[in-house]
Amino acid sequence: MRLDVVTIFPEYLEPLNVSLVGKARTRGQLDVRVHDLRSWTHDRHNTVDDTPYGGGPGMVMKPEPWGEALDSVLASGEAEGLAAPVLVVPTPSGRPFTQELAVELAERPWLVFAPARYEGIDRRVIEEYGERLEVHEVSIGDYVLAGGEAAVLVITEAVARLLPGVLGNAESHRDDSFAPGAMADLLEGPVYTKPPEWRGRDIPEVLVSGHHGKIARWRRDEAFRRTSANRPDLIERCDPAALDKHDRKTLAELGWEELPGGGFGRRDRAVEE
Ligand code: ADE
Repeated sequence: MRLDVVTIFPEYLEPLNVSLVGKARTRGQLDVRVHDLRSWTHDRHNTVDDTPYGGGPGMVMKPEPWGEALDSVLASGEAEGLAAPVLVVPTPSGRPFTQELAVELAERPWLVFAPARYEGIDRRVIEEYGERLEVHEVSIGDYVLAGGEAAVLVITEAVARLLPGVLGNAESHRDDSFAPGAMADLLEGPVYTKPPEWRGRDIPEVLVSGHHGKIARWRRDEAFRRTSANRPDLIERCDPAALDKHDRKTLAELGWEELPGGGFGRRDRAVEE
């Protein structure tokens, strides 16, 4: 997979040289190219921003450097025979970045990232490339960062670990929280390793029972417990048809009840609140 990042802070992308993404690069599984947006400016001050039309605080990124930068990046990929890339624009006003989108992006051979600083990029840039490319404006969470570079690191790591051969163990993302499949839409429960006793704390006995069925059941119950505590919205949206008798019992113990219209709700919520 090829990744291009156009930014005014190329050094911010240094973490792409280490750990999983760094290794994928050295192994040739990922071809990452970071470009300095300012190299497509032509004035003495390498200006990339200007005041917003209509007034208001902050600055807006000028369309010309972005246009030249993206044209140049697109041309270089085309010259290498690549089909049009997906353009990813991190912004707090984008659609939420999810595991589902990570899986979708991991299937594409070429991603181009356009992280903005300041109040964002002149809208015409998104419109212009939206006519030629698939453009995703994505938010990594309901908070505002100083720029999109940290979001590029987040998205890149989530995508890179899904590429074939990047994670050592091919099974390792099957059980990810949010991975489609068996534990769909449940958070992963706690994990333990050796030693069996640490500071007077034992590991749950079931994990050394050798009984695979019981272990799977325990893990699923713990997943329900953690999801119920940390992401009750996921329980509310859970499909009752995907649950077995034991799942229902666990949810009932955690204070959930099946609603007549489908889905789950907290029992006695009105009383508790
Ligand atoms: N840029 C600033 N905040 C962001 C966020 N939450 N997600 C993606 N890009 C951003």
